[in-house]
Amino acid sequence: MSQVHVLILAAGNSTRLKSRLTKVLHPVCGRPMIDYVLDGARSVRPQKICLVVGNGREEIQEHLRDQKGLIFAHQKERLGTAHAVQTGLKALGKIRGPVLILTGDAPCLQAFTLKQLLNAQPQAPLALLTAVLPNPQGYGRILRNLEGRIYGIVEEKNASPEQRQFNEINAGFYRADAEFLRKTLPKIRKDPLKGEYYLTDLVALAVEQNLPVESLTVEDLHEVLGANTRAELAYLHQILQTEIVRRHLDQGVGMQNPDSLIIDHGVKIGADSYLGSGVQLLGKTRVGKACQIEAACILKNAVLGEEVQVKAFSYFEDCEVRSQAVIGPFARLRPGTTVEEQAHVGNFVELKKTRLGKGSKANHLSYLGDAVIGKGVNIGAGTITCNYDGKHKYTTHLGDGVFVGSNTQFVAPVKVGKKAYIGAGTTVTKNVPPGALAISRVPQENIKGYKKR
Ligand code: UD1
Ligand code: CA
Repeated sequence: MSQVHVLILAAGNSTRLKSRLTKVLHPVCGRPMIDYVLDGARSVRPQKICLVVGNGREEIQEHLRDQKGLIFAHQKERLGTAHAVQTGLKALGKIRGPVLILTGDAPCLQAFTLKQLLNAQPQAPLALLTAVLPNPQGYGRILRNLEGRIYGIVEEKNASPEQRQFNEINAGFYRADAEFLRKTLPKIRKDPLKGEYYLTDLVALAVEQNLPVESLTVEDLHEVLGANTRAELAYLHQILQTEIVRRHLDQGVGMQNPDSLIIDHGVKIGADSYLGSGVQLLGKTRVGKACQIEAACILKNAVLGEEVQVKAFSYFEDCEVRSQAVIGPFARLRPGTTVEEQAHVGNFVELKKTRLGKGSKANHLSYLGDAVIGKGVNIGAGTITCNYDGKHKYTTHLGDGVFVGSNTQFVAPVKVGKKAYIGAGTTVTKNVPPGALAISRVPQENIKGYKKR
């Protein structure tokens, strides 16, 4: 049974991101960074995970309220990474054995690497991950003696011009023995330049006591990248996006231009579906098998059945589209909409909180809101539900097989019985019985010789 505990440092500000949102909640591929880090933490099956939080801790706690086995430690003042670890350690109580220390803003670290860090030289009280970066700017640099043994870490701010040339960086992931931490953390002095207690000083302090420090150099540089700036955040997004796209390609999803797509972390796509250029599948979107989604469509939390066709420039949000339906181009499906099997929604049609029954068609220029529409209904061009009186919303019911002529307005609440007809240009204000024809039209008058007059 493993005795490992995990500490995640997440009390940092979003200063360099210039954002109101706490750093670790910034999403990468639609998922807050902290969620990736927690996945990593859980992969080592820890006894407990402690999150050190500061500013924005309410937001973080709210976001993680359903997660089990988490404790939060409040770092009231942001006095540096050493102080953050001390705060977390206190919250974990009198624990023994290894503690994995992770940064909340580096979401790409793989479970495999964490396991390696955990198992590297178990007798060393301190082990850490390093990487050799072509551009090490912003990171702490690893200092090694002539035998190649690590003897310290110097932060960029404190580094001499010569030290800044060093390419090996501190990734910010550590394994430290709990007892070693309790003994050594209090010895760390505040850095005069930054006014912070640096966790990285642990290395020099261990070396002073002749204790071994183990370092592990990761090969995949992406794993250690943090997101301190918007540019780094965008880069992380790119890396994870490439992985996500790759996974879907492997699972048989066709893509016109893979680099142009945005597919969020949690999205599922059935085999043999095809995504046009610039498609965005966001949130909890699910796409069934053999769907065709043409260029520039955006789907947020949409659920699609099989063989659905979505034509270019359509926008979906919190809605469901069942198998073999055909939507777009330029269609908008708003929250609470269900389009049933084989139904058609055409260009410049907006549906909100509406159920469009099996095989029904609304092909041109319509607004259908708060409507329950049966099977095999034909909605003519320009049909509109007047669902709102300025205070309340009302429902329009159209029975199976209803035929709605063009330019009809339904003044809700209103019901139309099965197989009724609505003449073009009608304003429907009263219920229509099944099989009836409703028509409200001002009779046409032709005034002869008008031009001459
Ligand atoms: C830190 C390391 C640096 C390393 C880099 C890797 C130190 C002194 N420096 O620098 O060597 O190369 O990470 O990404 O540790 N945090 C708190 N409380 C605090 C301060 C920070 O919880 O008082 C958290 C932050 O939220 C963040 C992590 O600790 O998750 C690292 O802090 P950050 O300010 O990002 O440190 P870096 O400058 O990136
Ligand atoms: Ca950082």
